[in-house]
Amino acid sequence: MSNSLLITETEKILNKSIKSIESPLQGADSSVLICSLDDSSEIVLKYGEEVHKDLAVINILNESAYKKIPKVLGDFVLEEKTCLITDKATGTLWEFCDNPDVYIEEVLVEIEKIHQVTSKYPGQPFYIDQGLKITWIDFLNRRYDGTEEYYKWNNVLKNQRVNTQLLKKGLEIVRSGIKSVSVPQTFSMLHMDLNDRNIFIDEQTKEITCVIDWTDSVFGDRLLDLARFRLLLTHFYPDSINTYWQFNKFAHEEKKLEEFYFLCICLDYVIWYSEGEDWDYLERHEEILSEVIREY
Ligand SMILES: Nc1ncnc2c1ncn2[C@@H]1O[C@H](COP(=O)(O)OP(=O)(O)O)[C@@H](O)[C@H]1O
Ligand SMILES: [Mg+2]
Repeated sequence: MSNSLLITETEKILNKSIKSIESPLQGADSSVLICSLDDSSEIVLKYGEEVHKDLAVINILNESAYKKIPKVLGDFVLEEKTCLITDKATGTLWEFCDNPDVYIEEVLVEIEKIHQVTSKYPGQPFYIDQGLKITWIDFLNRRYDGTEEYYKWNNVLKNQRVNTQLLKKGLEIVRSGIKSVSVPQTFSMLHMDLNDRNIFIDEQTKEITCVIDWTDSVFGDRLLDLARFRLLLTHFYPDSINTYWQFNKFAHEEKKLEEFYFLCICLDYVIWYSEGEDWDYLERHEEILSEVIREY
């Protein structure tokens, strides 16, 4: 897919012309273009197979009290994939802040605010909108029994790079533990990919200005999102892990559940890194996984 079709369609929708384009560092699932317009403003195009999910979530957040999201300027479908046009976030990407460690508490506060957006139903907003309802337990089951498209455990278990014994053990614990998971009364908006490339910060005021990349977001148990964030800290910000525990004073049962979700998320990341070339990252996640499994 050449960018020129995206550009032509965007120019038509905005009724402005695009002067120049930049591609940021990004995840693997979509293409993102930062475009300067003839009126010197900047916009962002995100195009890919999953981008309709970003749009469904942003539409929900637009109706909520949570406002630190990109402003949607338009959207269209080309070759069966959605292109989302938004404004460009202000501030600095967390990754590029002078001292990223100092913002962890701000990010934790922000996560709490996102979790205040709730739904009666769990799952991906795009599917909920289509009337495809699912229980929280089935949502988890589908991930770890391999029904969900991305979670092809049998393929991962054939990957020579992966510690098969460890992964099998982890899967066993998770699969048998899901049925005893206590289900929350209401489901929170979970971002599910809160990393330092998805958050913008004003370094002067220390305020978070924008949270982007809502592709993986689902309604669910807030503890799953927190466990996901703890794994990010464990890997990239290990010196700040205490900030997490001090901020989240979990009751005993909550802590146990967060630890169970942490194990689930470790498994997710073994898949993620088994598909890439960051073998150090795969090894590190297997190490973390084996530490967690030892507790069981
Ligand atoms: N609204 C935005 N404003 C500024 N930069 C953005 C915006 N959206 C995306 N980007 C840049 O593009 C990168 C990838 O976009 P993202 O939505 O996170 O896609 P991916 O799913 O590929 O990670 C981000 O890390 C950020 O650098
Ligand atoms: Mg991203």
